[in-house]
Amino acid sequence: MSLNFHKSSPIGVFDSGLGGITVFNEIRKVLPNENLIYLGDTARVPYGTKSKSVVTEYSRANVKFLISKGVKVVVIACNTASASALEILQKEFKDILIIGVIEPVISNLMILDNVSKVGVIGTSTTISSQTYQKRIKEKINVEVFSQSCPLFVPYVEEGIVDGAMIMTVIEYYLTNLKQRQIDALILGCTHYPLLKKPLSYFFENKVRILDSAFYTARELKKLLINNNLLNNSIHN
Ligand code: DGL
Repeated sequence: MSLNFHKSSPIGVFDSGLGGITVFNEIRKVLPNENLIYLGDTARVPYGTKSKSVVTEYSRANVKFLISKGVKVVVIACNTASASALEILQKEFKDILIIGVIEPVISNLMILDNVSKVGVIGTSTTISSQTYQKRIKEKINVEVFSQSCPLFVPYVEEGIVDGAMIMTVIEYYLTNLKQRQIDALILGCTHYPLLKKPLSYFFENKVRILDSAFYTARELKKLLINNNLLNNSIHN
């Protein structure tokens, strides 16, 4: 595949559905001069209940599609795809920068004060991959409690992001985690920032909620600067 991109080329962002829009919106804020292309693979959502090899196959197709649109960087705005396929795809597509959503949030967890118990929530595939659990343990000395919440994605895709139904689902999955008295909660799925309000309410605003969209956008900016790929022109 021949690559032909320059500073004003777009940034490609993909997710299984609309969750990656949370990342897209942060990138838009942090990098207002950049052209963005968003791919939501809604034909095949959810990814979070599928195997690593299937998610890798879908992610590979997404990267190829975005490269065919002339992108200069690919942002995997999906935790499930980042956990399953990031390293494989970085090796396969050496000529293009590919960034995921997991490392940026973990790097920022390291600089927070007074965090000794961390909760991580995500899709079944992300949580069972143990990626978060392992990477956090490698970097900091905290207790990690994880929980998959497979119903969150279909609720968000249906636009059910507040009200009694979602509160029942939150209670169902997260009551044990609440009892652990965690200090911080990582939203290990890009759909979950859309549930930030009911989640904060459930944790009585006592838990710091870390959203990978926020940190990924800032990490992306650094990556563009370091690789001299920042789009300086306002007229694209
Ligand atoms: N938003 C994605 C993630 O971060 C995928 C959710 C899904 O398709 O199950 O994991």
